[in-house]
Order: sequence, then structure tokens, then C-alpha cells
Amino acid sequence: MVVKMPETLTVTDNRTGKQYEVAIKDGAIKATDLRQMKTGADDAGLMTYDPAFMNTASCKSRITYIDGDKGILEHRGYPIDQLADQSTFLETAYLLVHGELPTAGQLGDWTGAIGRHLTVPTLLPNLFGGFQRDAHPMGMYQAAVAALSTYYPDSKDIATAATRLTQVYRLIAQMPTLAAMAYRHGQGLAPVYPDASLSFTGNFLHMLFQNEDGSYRPNPVLERALDVLFILHADHEQNCSTSAMRGIGSSHADPFSSMAGAVGALYGPLHGGANEAVLRMLQEIGSVNRIPEFITHVKNGEGRLMGFGHRVYKSYDPRARIVKKTADEVFAVTGMNPLLDIAVELERIALQDDYFVSRKLYPNVDFYSGLIYQAMGFPTGMFPVLFAVGRTAGWASQWLELIVDPDQKISRPRQLYLGSARRDFVPMTSR
Ligand code: CMC
Repeated sequence: MVVKMPETLTVTDNRTGKQYEVAIKDGAIKATDLRQMKTGADDAGLMTYDPAFMNTASCKSRITYIDGDKGILEHRGYPIDQLADQSTFLETAYLLVHGELPTAGQLGDWTGAIGRHLTVPTLLPNLFGGFQRDAHPMGMYQAAVAALSTYYPDSKDIATAATRLTQVYRLIAQMPTLAAMAYRHGQGLAPVYPDASLSFTGNFLHMLFQNEDGSYRPNPVLERALDVLFILHADHEQNCSTSAMRGIGSSHADPFSSMAGAVGALYGPLHGGANEAVLRMLQEIGSVNRIPEFITHVKNGEGRLMGFGHRVYKSYDPRARIVKKTADEVFAVTGMNPLLDIAVELERIALQDDYFVSRKLYPNVDFYSGLIYQAMGFPTGMFPVLFAVGRTAGWASQWLELIVDPDQKISRPRQLYLGSARRDFVPMTSR
């Protein structure tokens, strides 16, 4: 006979000798259940201390599953390698947003709706005129995402499902348009307006690289490679930028304002800015024979091996494997990126070195993606913007999930106050 063990945790508070039984649900206890553990009437109750959310679930989600030890990533249950192989970015975006793969009719409607929202508000392109030519594209992009909220005041109505969906169409559709504008502003080129008859990624490449005579046609291998990269970046559960999206969204800010915050979080070199940092690092190393010297610096704590390591993956990032394969397909068209040799050798050495092995540091999605973007002709500043275009699908889905989740409230962490106790103000003359 199988004895069913109780799904509870028994805690003895040794400060008081009291014992408590706390429920365990879905593998977690509720942090607020600890509040009952007090030393006296003045005690506000026990808290957990978890800087950087190392072991705290901030939400329940049904969108993305990651097993970091086994290197598994699934969206709505579908493995990332199958999506990268058989899906398109727009179809994966539908899956993330709606929870199921679309039928042919649903995909047609979804593609049509996105196609009708590609064009940004008429005055918005003027915004780019206020930026210097050498402004970082991610900074321009972030400002443009925030500006969208001023053009779409209906986005403040987050309580109506149909209105929320309209914002999701706008977000997914207009991010490539804004990204292309940021790129072209840096090149001193006028914007190219969207063409809804092209594929999502084909239209993006058209808005980026179209010539004055209209002769540019994207190479189908590069178009598919970029689409795959968008799939690989589409969502990654509660990462730093998604947590920013949810945190801001929890105040009931409109989704454009929330997403501008998410873009800011993604900008950092420890997150979506890593692809840019990898390229700079490879350029700085400069040649294969300088790798051992670089690795020694990293091991001495003088910098990080960018594109390596992950908070959740403690084995090979499954996305990195697919990026590496995609890189081979892209380089067959563009010619070899000379930095690839350095990257491959860096990976080989790091994966044999006890420093990286013992800390379970493996290449992440950004180790090879920058090499692909560079081969496609993107300047390094555009790399995090490309990450953001793909991640929009995830941010939008996570925001939709947040808004209808009855467990959610305004996001408001606690703190452990360790500052000075109450004291009287000291006048300037007495200090
Ligand atoms: N190079 C050298 N050492 C590293 C690295 C690295 N890239 N990453 C982690 N470590 C070391 C770190 O110094 C620490 O060592 P020790 O225990 O001796 O102090 C140990 O490994 C654990 O690191 P951590 O900083 O506690 O780990 P974390 O989970 O807080 O950080 C990370 C995760 C991704 C921020 C970090 O691995 C990192 O900075 N990587 C480089 C930046 C990067 O590639 N980011 C892209 C992540 S994937 C794309 C995305 O979704 O954002």
C-alpha cells in the first residue's frame, strides 16, 4: 500500500519553540505563510531574503517551461528545437499569446491582423530626428516604444480583453518597424515603410535594407535564419526583462510603457546586451593565440566570458546549439565570419577548463548570435534590438497572463532595513 505523505512543511521556530505547518503547493510554500512566525506582538513576522530572486517564484505561468539542469526549453509544451525547425516566428508568437498552435484559418487571421498594424503612427518617425546619428539604436528603440503609449491612449484600458489584444497586435507588428527606423537613422537613411505582402521577417529585412530603386530582395536563407533567431528569443519565462514587464504591468501601466521598461532591462550586458558584448570581446581578443591570456584574466576575476553562463541553465543552453547550426547556414551564404574561429576555440578551451566546468558555465544563446547578425550586415548596436523584436512575443504573452491572474497584485518586494535607528535632525551648525 502506498502511503500518501502530507503536502506540508513543518517548521520549528527555535526562537520561540513553536511549531508551524505550512502547505506545499506546486512544489512551493507561500512566503506569506511565514508571516505567522513571530517572536512577539511587535514582530511583523518572518520574511524570506532573496536578492535577485534566486529561489522565489513571482507568478504561476503556463507559457514557458525550462529545466536548466537538463537543458530543456518548451513553449506551451512544444520543444524549442521543434519550433525552430518547423514553425515560423509569427506562428510561435500566436502559440505564446493564445496557448495553442493555430489552425490554418487562425494563422491567416493572425497574420492579417499583424499585417494591418505594421505602420507606426504618422508623427512617430519625427521622434528619430531628435537623436544624434551615433545614438545607440537600443536607446532610440526604447524611447520609440515608450512614445507609442502617447499615440494609443486606448492602451490604458487594460481591463478589456479585445483592447488588450489590439495592443498585442500593435506591439508584435510595430517593433520591427521601430527597429528598422532606429537602424536607418544611424545610417542617415530615410525610413522604408512596411510591406504587408511580405513575410514578417521578409518585411523587416525590406524595411532595413531596401534600396532607393527598390531592387533589394532578402536572401531566403538569411530571412529564414533571422526568423529562427526570433523564435529562439521569443520567450524565456521570468528573466530580468520579463520580470520588468510584469513588474511595471502590475501597476496597471499601459503595455507600451511596460515594454519600454522591459527593453531597458534587456539593454544591459548581462542580459540582451550580451550579444553585443560578445562581439566586442571577440574583437578585443583579436586572434586565437591570445585566448589563453584572455581566459586567465577571466579566471582572475578581471572580466567575464560574455555569452557564457546562465542563471537557469546549468548545462548547454538548448538555444545555443540551434544558433550554432544556424550560423553554419548563414556563413554558407555570407562567407565565414573571421571571428568564428576565435569563438569556436574559446568555447573549446572553456568547456575543458575546471573554472567553467565546476561552475557549470556553458555557451548561452548570445555566444554565437552576434556573429550571425554581423555577417548579415547589422552594426553591433542593433544586436540587442534584434533580441527585443523577438522577445516582444514573450513580453506580450506574459503581460496578458499577468493582467488576468487573480493572484497578482501590484509588485512590491519587502526589504530588510539595516539602516540607522530613529535619531533627531542635526542642524548644519552642529554637524
Ligand atoms: N564568465 C566568467 N565567470 C562567470 C560567468 C562568465 N560569463 N558567469 C558566471 N561566472 C562565475 C561567477 O563569477 C561566479 O563565480 P564565483 O562562484 O567564483 O563567484 C559563478 O560563475 C556564478 O555566477 P553568478 O554571477 O552568481 O551567476 P548568475 O546566475 O547571477 O549570472 C549571468 C548569470 C548570465 C548574469 C552570468 O553568467 C553572466 O554574467 N554571463 C555573461 C553575460 C551573458 O552572457 N549574459 C547573457 C545571458 S543569456 C541571454 C539572456 O537571456 O539574457
